[in-house]
Amino acid sequence: MAQTLRFDGRVVIVTGAGGGLGRSHALFFGSRGASVVVNDLGSSHTGEGASTRAADVVVEEIRAGGGKAVANYDSVLDGDKIVETAMKAFGRVDIVINNAGILKDVSFARMTDEQWKLIFQVHVDGAYKVLKAAWPIFRQQKFGRIINTTSAAGIYGNFGQANYSAAKLALVGLTRTLALEGKKDNIHCNVIAPMAASRMTETVLPPDMLASLKPEMVTPLVAYLCHESTAENGSLFEVGAGFIGKLRWERTGGHGFPNDKPLLPEQIQEKWEVITNFEDGRATHPDSTQESMEGIISNFENVSKEEAPRPRVVSEDGKV
Ligand code: NAI
Repeated sequence: MAQTLRFDGRVVIVTGAGGGLGRSHALFFGSRGASVVVNDLGSSHTGEGASTRAADVVVEEIRAGGGKAVANYDSVLDGDKIVETAMKAFGRVDIVINNAGILKDVSFARMTDEQWKLIFQVHVDGAYKVLKAAWPIFRQQKFGRIINTTSAAGIYGNFGQANYSAAKLALVGLTRTLALEGKKDNIHCNVIAPMAASRMTETVLPPDMLASLKPEMVTPLVAYLCHESTAENGSLFEVGAGFIGKLRWERTGGHGFPNDKPLLPEQIQEKWEVITNFEDGRATHPDSTQESMEGIISNFENVSKEEAPRPRVVSEDGKV
């Protein structure tokens, strides 16, 4: 086995660390030499109430194991206060794990503005507020590691989670951009889509599945990505039950229509199989906006050599 990855001298903020995945992350960093800010508002999994107990218990656990930790009870919406706690207690911040989260599951038809907004506040605004306060510190010290927490619901969509899936995918976009902006200052930002037994999943997943989904099987990836020796930046991983896989976009080879002629939906209909075919050996994996634009830019010069036959468009009343 390689050398133990230690975090001595590093200060880690873990949001929502009073239970579930956040607790596991906090305990692990605490056991590997880091000083940990255990943030938790102590609310229910749907965001009601508040208690200092959740964070306090985890701080006690870390200290009992010989580690260093302080509690913070602010909402992630007051991210600056969480960073302030780290600065006051330990004098620096090196790693931010944006993990805090709640659910307000309801079908889109029944969703209220409040349910939409609250989910965006906690997941998106909360991550923003913590990072916005930590960012200048990271830049100045030329070191920073960030983990954002998305969800399969964000990547693929999930019934009853329009608010949650939209907010969770926002964190992927945030990650990609911060990875680009932070790179020159040795700030790396990655995003995980975890699966783990927690109070968030205990009502949705069957007990036998939950038994195989220990939060401790997600945390080692978080720790690896946050280590000073790790170069990975801007990546998205699915992780759970000991499985770890990286995701990327895939684009079909597509079809370029002449750029100097009107484009009609009927032409698209005709080429639909080609446009949507991932299996013809022409698919690519664009990894930046530049690579994304290549398909479009390469079609600038696609001008028609001959007059394309205009399809006859027949309306419902039979007129051509
Ligand atoms: P959890 O409910 O056990 O932990 C979330 C923690 O965040 C709680 O301790 C809660 O008090 C805290 N929290 C909520 N709102 C907060 C706020 N405004 N400020 C500070 N703390 C707040 O849930 P779990 O499963 O550990 O979730 C952790 C993260 O992982 C969440 O972002 C969740 O969306 C995400 N996730 C979890 C999955 C799973 O399978 N458990 C699947 C996909 C994503």
